[in-house]
Amino acid sequence: MESTLIPRLSPIAGVKRRRILRIGLLGLGVVGSGVAHILDAIHSTAYAQCGAEIELAAVAVLHKEKQRAVRVPHNIITNDAWSVATDPEIDVIIEVIGGEEPARSLMREALNTGHHVITANKLVLSSALSSFHALARVNRVQLLYEAAVCGSIPVLRSINMLRQTDEIISLRGIVNGSTNYILTAMAQRGISRDEAIAEARAAGFLEADPTLDLSGADAAQKLAILIHHAFGEYVLPNEIETIGITNISHSDIADAQRRGFTVKLVASAIRSERCGGIIARVAPEEIPFDHPFASTNNELNTIELQTRYAGPQLLSGKGAGSLPTASAIIGDVVRVIRL
Ligand SMILES: NC(=O)c1ccc[n+]([C@@H]2O[C@H](COP(=O)([O-])OP(=O)(O)OC[C@H]3O[C@@H](n4cnc5c(N)ncnc54)[C@H](OP(=O)(O)O)[C@@H]3O)[C@@H](O)[C@H]2O)c1
Repeated sequence: MESTLIPRLSPIAGVKRRRILRIGLLGLGVVGSGVAHILDAIHSTAYAQCGAEIELAAVAVLHKEKQRAVRVPHNIITNDAWSVATDPEIDVIIEVIGGEEPARSLMREALNTGHHVITANKLVLSSALSSFHALARVNRVQLLYEAAVCGSIPVLRSINMLRQTDEIISLRGIVNGSTNYILTAMAQRGISRDEAIAEARAAGFLEADPTLDLSGADAAQKLAILIHHAFGEYVLPNEIETIGITNISHSDIADAQRRGFTVKLVASAIRSERCGGIIARVAPEEIPFDHPFASTNNELNTIELQTRYAGPQLLSGKGAGSLPTASAIIGDVVRVIRL
């Protein structure tokens, strides 16, 4: 797809044009702070490495006076997210507000006003992926969301590349960092589920609404996005059989451990010619101690892809957290520059 990135003129007449990519950041919470931090850290090297200067032009928040984990010039902070999402001087909107609204409408408006959109919002994307893809196509802009699935792991990029020459037969993975953090704490330190949930919340791993994580809904949203990239089908999260970890007790885990297993929340999908489609499921599974999933602990995620020609492929890394998630977003920013 053609990029609409505008090469802006350097203020010094006669000097070669330098491309400037102007970013509008919606949200400065756990992930947004990580994005602002990395943008600041790479500011001086971005031009040499990516071929464009990257400028954080505006940041929208809910509470303007709140203390922040990152330093951002006060004059670029606003609580009018709409003015940022529709600003013609901005090239890329990064949406990290999360939740349904206003994130959904802001992203739609940003696409409709000719902005590339980068988001980590699997909740919004997974329920309307095909319409968001259509909107990006019509407006000839990019919609990128590597951070929405498995945080720092470039899983969507890897699947897209594999599918150019191979076929994905199945995928299976630990895709929710917070439930994995909770199950790891219960298994390794013997703490209760409630104590583990409180720790995951304090570490910033839980969604604002923790039932999304605990019920398996967040994993189903990610699986719906993965299915589209792996198999080319649009599946809604509520079409995926989903069982969360709300009923997993400490004694279930201890019992599995005595038999040489650990308990993990696993998302899986396989193309089935017999059933004429995709069989997809999110559910706790007993995993043998020697399987790579068993050593995928805390906020780590692991995805196993079975491909027709290349065979099994394993991807592992941090699936949540401020900087790991932000690093996937910055990867998408660089993609916008290079596309
Ligand atoms: N946290 C993770 O590890 C992680 C990992 C992968 C993906 N994600 C996804 O990343 C997204 C953001 O998550 P997060 O953990 O960073 O959330 P968060 O910490 O709750 O941050 C949300 C930010 O959005 C701002 N905000 C809320 N409503 C707003 C509005 N109407 N206008 C402007 N700003 C508004 C908040 O402003 P104030 O600060 O002023 O309140 C806050 O800065 C979600 O879609 C989540 O699913 C998160």
